Amino acid sequence: MKYILITQNMPSPMVYSLHMAKVKRTPLVIGNWKMHPATLEAAKRLGKDVVTKALKARGTASCDIGIAVPTLYFDEIGKITKGKPIMLGAQNAAAGAVGAETGEVSAGMLAERRAAFVIVGHSERRARGEDNAQVTARAAGVLAAKMIPVVCIGEQSRDAEGDFYHIVHEQLDAVFANLGGTAATRVVVAYEPVWAIGTGLTPTAEDVSTMRLAIKKYLHEKYGDAVANKVRVLYGGSVTEENALEFMQNGMIDGFLVGGASLEAVRFAVIIKACIA
Ligand code: PGA
Repeated sequence: MKYILITQNMPSPMVYSLHMAKVKRTPLVIGNWKMHPATLEAAKRLGKDVVTKALKARGTASCDIGIAVPTLYFDEIGKITKGKPIMLGAQNAAAGAVGAETGEVSAGMLAERRAAFVIVGHSERRARGEDNAQVTARAAGVLAAKMIPVVCIGEQSRDAEGDFYHIVHEQLDAVFANLGGTAATRVVVAYEPVWAIGTGLTPTAEDVSTMRLAIKKYLHEKYGDAVANKVRVLYGGSVTEENALEFMQNGMIDGFLVGGASLEAVRFAVIIKACIA
């Protein structure tokens, strides 16, 4: 199938973008620490640095900030973020509450440790075999535990025919297929083209804006205006202090999921600034 099928019946990008622009969504910037740093002491140093610099960068502007830290560091980093407007999040969660699932941690367990959000379906998890059905179940578990699922979707590579839009569409549809409108508004969608993660390669802001439009179109058709307007769409993949502003201004997104650059508080702070500029 061709890209044209995705854009068929799509409100003209300009009209649609203008329409969406009327709704003010609070930007969201999430740092995904992945399996960093190596020790708890280093994590505490990074946590303190991030809290100070991120909050200074944000000032009184409206911008949600989150850090997805290794689960073992939760309690100590939680002490640092306690009472501060920085959300603590996890990088994955099992679908069920308890069970014979060696190595897994449930959404309920994370919520009890004060997690506010959980990344699900990150490409580094999908590469280990998590499929759309599992990602959907995990997202449902996160919603059931009253947290925000940050659902990662994105193509492995781009083809000239635009078939990658269908892959992203399938990933999206798996998660939203059985969700009601109220639950859907609590989901954050992170568009992360896999080829851009940790590579220094990025799509253009226009590419990102077109993908965001395809995501919004899907939500619009499924739920209507009110829900589609509320769902935040982030971009992730080699976001830096240099390219963040361009993505915000011309990519029409609501913020970022940041990997590498979130491990340096100064860089993370500049990315936050780009979201409120
Ligand atoms: P990156 O990672 O910013 O280092 O490319 C993004 C991510 O994996 O979420």
